Amino acid sequence: MESVRWGILSTARIGLEKVIPAMQKGRATTVVALGSRDGVRGREAAAKLGIPTAYDSYESLLADPAVEAIYNPLPNHLHVPWSIKAMEAGKHVLCEKPVALTADEAQQLVDAEKRTGKRVAEAFMVRHHPQWLRARSLVAEGKIGEARLIRTIFAYSNADPANIRNQAEIGGGGLYDIGCYAIATARFLFGAEPLRVMASVQRDPVMKVDRLTSGLIEFPDGRQLVFSCATQLTARQEVEILGTKGRVQVKVPFNADPAKPTEIVIDDARDLYAGGAVSERFDPCDQYTLQVDAFSEAIRQDKPFDYPVADAVKNMRIIDALLRSETSGRWETP
Ligand SMILES: NC(=O)c1ccc[n+]([C@@H]2O[C@H](COP(=O)([O-])OP(=O)(O)OC[C@H]3O[C@@H](n4cnc5c(N)ncnc54)[C@H](OP(=O)(O)O)[C@@H]3O)[C@@H](O)[C@H]2O)c1
Repeated sequence: MESVRWGILSTARIGLEKVIPAMQKGRATTVVALGSRDGVRGREAAAKLGIPTAYDSYESLLADPAVEAIYNPLPNHLHVPWSIKAMEAGKHVLCEKPVALTADEAQQLVDAEKRTGKRVAEAFMVRHHPQWLRARSLVAEGKIGEARLIRTIFAYSNADPANIRNQAEIGGGGLYDIGCYAIATARFLFGAEPLRVMASVQRDPVMKVDRLTSGLIEFPDGRQLVFSCATQLTARQEVEILGTKGRVQVKVPFNADPAKPTEIVIDDARDLYAGGAVSERFDPCDQYTLQVDAFSEAIRQDKPFDYPVADAVKNMRIIDALLRSETSGRWETP
């Protein structure tokens, strides 16, 4: 299969450090160009990563007829506008999470797909990692009885006011940055959409971004996600799925190192000391490579991608509802 030719929008750190090297390992993916607002920065980044062409504007990248698809890791407020521009220029788009700032904004991408015939998807790479696919099938096959509670923590410490995550006006804050993973993975595991949500949100007094958000998300049949995400707290990632007959724990759920094996624990809960726990290990793999190759193959073979943009709109509806709950102090319906 001929590789899909990708262009990279900006010199975002996630691109330079993680996603571009992962794309360059892909079997269906080739990175052919990068565009930056700053020509010097763009050329330096492209040279360092062996990307053949660098542009000094996003517009010139989108005008390159050799580019078939765009990876969009711009700050969150630019996800929708630049993804739409890319689609209107005839490119498919893999856009970083959160795909938008609101569900209404995300819906514009659904409309843009219809209008342009190009695809756009939200880059939740974890859904391509074998450890998550395995956790989902364990839940589906009833290995832990009825899975009723997911407990998720995603936290790091970053109080740098210059970081995009700490700028409220461009879509900063923990819920947008990492809370979105807790929601996306719970929907993925339960294979269902929430009925109602409630949030407790603590904001940084100066930067105004949410720095500690906890959410209670109620799914059909009495299932729940309880999560906390934090941006000024000790670094920690935890996901545990509790069922009526045991539990599954994903040990490094979100930022699995591509060079290291990962592990999930399946515990039949015969005692409180994990006496019945067994570990399943997964060989090192790069979840960003798996993600982009899956998208490239969907494009090239004209087949459905597992996570269409309608899924991204559903995730954003829940974020919208949590933010409404912050203000109302009540349950909100997504
Ligand atoms: N999936 C994941 O694992 C993962 C991990 C980290 C981040 N992300 C997502 O990726 C995106 C980028 O995150 P990041 O930490 O890599 O960002 P970053 O390093 O701050 O990069 C953002 C880039 O956007 C460009 N830009 C355009 N307008 C800008 C503006 N007004 N302010 C700042 N930058 C602007 C800049 O590139 P030029 O100057 O070259 O144009 C900048 O380098 C976010 O949406 C984030 O949620 C995803």
